[in-house]
Amino acid sequence: KQALNIVKMKKMKKDKIPLTVLTAYDYPSARLAEEAGVDMLLIGDSLGNVVLGYDSTIPVTIDDIVYHTRAVARGAQSTFIVADLPFMTYHGSIDETLRNVRRLMQEGHAHAVKLEGGKEIAATVQTIVQSGVPVVGHIGLTPQSVNQIGGYRVQGKDELDAKRLIEDAKALEQAGAFAIVLELVTEQVASIITSELSIPTIGIGAGRDCDGQVIVFHDLLKYSPDYRDKRFVKTYADIGAQIRSSISEYVSDVKKRQFPGPEHVFTAEDGVVDNLYG
Ligand code: KIV
Ligand code: NA
Repeated sequence: KQALNIVKMKKMKKDKIPLTVLTAYDYPSARLAEEAGVDMLLIGDSLGNVVLGYDSTIPVTIDDIVYHTRAVARGAQSTFIVADLPFMTYHGSIDETLRNVRRLMQEGHAHAVKLEGGKEIAATVQTIVQSGVPVVGHIGLTPQSVNQIGGYRVQGKDELDAKRLIEDAKALEQAGAFAIVLELVTEQVASIITSELSIPTIGIGAGRDCDGQVIVFHDLLKYSPDYRDKRFVKTYADIGAQIRSSISEYVSDVKKRQFPGPEHVFTAEDGVVDNLYG
């Protein structure tokens, strides 16, 4: 049933067909994204910021990601689904890492997992891949290490940093990753990495030459109470403003007794009610 797989993705890179990736956190958004033709859905730990109201991804737990992955999987039954391994869920023992991976796959119904890091995480990537689970790498700005990086800053700006990113990307490919997310990387460095790897790169704030693009659902739609423009985001709607004004109309209608209207009420002639929950 699933439309895409990791073999087809590699072929898409060869054929220069861009890979479209979107984050998703629940059933309706996942289903709408599938109907809109997205290639891959990512249950990102950006969940923490955009859905759970934290100010970083660090508080997000494996339980959070499992719960939301399940909902996404119910909504998008024909789409390739990747789930993030959250902060500190892949840095302990191999047993603990594989237990968390198992939960994302078996309880969440993901098709692959994503984790942050370069060379230092390559052995972990290899272990997960050897267990039969496809892995997406993630380098550049890695939000789980924000306290170490000292802020959300562009990566790959000097020669040393560029060299490190290219080596990290190669180490991840070597370890068996089937794709790599490049976050907030200069266009030049992302372009070099993309041309030197045989696996697809998926960019976010990483320029025009990546094999695919990923964007956060809530950014694409401005679905946030306090959305602030980001250079690397293109917004396609202002859903936050629409939600706020729609709810305010509802509040005002009830206050003014304009809702419910005559068309919304029941009389003794009515029977079964359609389109209810349950
Ligand atoms: O958590 C997330 O949404 C991500 C993407 C930004 C790649 O990791
Ligand atoms: Na993430």
